[in-house]
Amino acid sequence: MKKTIFSGMQPTGVAHIGNYFGAIKNWVSLQDEYNCLYSIVDLHAITIRQNPEELYQNTLNALALYMACGLDPDKNTIYIQSHYHGHAELCWLLSCFTYMGELGRMTQYKDKSAKNADNINLGLFAYPTLQTADILLFGTHLVPVGDDQKQHLELARDIAIRFNNIYGDVFTVPEVFTPKTGARIKSLSDPTKKMSKSDGEANYVGILDPADVVMKKFKRAVTDSDTEIRYDPENKAGISGLLEIYAAACNVDIAAAQREFEGKQYGHLKTTVAQAVIDNVTTPIQTKYNHLIKNPDHLANIAKSSAEKAASIGNPVLEKTKKAVGLVL
Ligand code: TRP
Repeated sequence: MKKTIFSGMQPTGVAHIGNYFGAIKNWVSLQDEYNCLYSIVDLHAITIRQNPEELYQNTLNALALYMACGLDPDKNTIYIQSHYHGHAELCWLLSCFTYMGELGRMTQYKDKSAKNADNINLGLFAYPTLQTADILLFGTHLVPVGDDQKQHLELARDIAIRFNNIYGDVFTVPEVFTPKTGARIKSLSDPTKKMSKSDGEANYVGILDPADVVMKKFKRAVTDSDTEIRYDPENKAGISGLLEIYAAACNVDIAAAQREFEGKQYGHLKTTVAQAVIDNVTTPIQTKYNHLIKNPDHLANIAKSSAEKAASIGNPVLEKTKKAVGLVL
């Protein structure tokens, strides 16, 4: 029996090469060994006020983008969260097993309510319970999450254990999944930090950025006043960050990347890394993406059949949960 992996992605704008090298690319390598579900979590997104047209477009774009990045919809279940009612339903059941105190302690809730002081809504508070429902619904064994989501996963485990202690073995207790590889791509404008969508346009390369924009961003990448191209993250964060991107884009190790640039100038490094990203990453993904986006009926069909696949896995767990608490089926 294959183990089940579940991950949720917010449909908020486009992904960058940090997301690609750090996560999405690795998911592709998991698709044969695991039963993987990837949900575009539109129900989570609306806990913060969204522009409806943007949310709609971002949701469909995200679906197309994950497929363009190589996630095969026949091997993985890539679907839109709201297409399957099980999430909202299990969320209600689990909300009766989540304590107010637990939710109040969530650091993401505290951060988001500080940033959205005029809209601290029930959904925002219950967000971790919905996330718990996402995970437990599919008998998920493993959840690939970053540090910012560990607290939510811990809560999901607590709720699963609490429920199982009362009603028997209904839920699989999920664990954090730390994938083997995956480069931590650095910001181009502050290479001591991780590439991030929230740190401004110049710091990241979007997967959908046109080639000239990619080139421009790399040319402006922050380096140092030295001239030697050497991998030394401590003292040469910018150059090391570029070498890491080159290694990831060309599937070579860092040492090989460094050897290739021995005695070369910074300008050469920047344009060569940019070209590698353009040729090996952004252009091929964009070609597939544009093809998918131009066939909305095909995309809608995939979304529909994927949601049906999710429902066929989730419905037995949902039924078991209802039965356990005494609902009449
Ligand atoms: N909360 C996650 C984030 O903001 C997204 C998410 C929703 C998720 N449901 C999930 C992640 C279930 C892992 C498992 O990134």
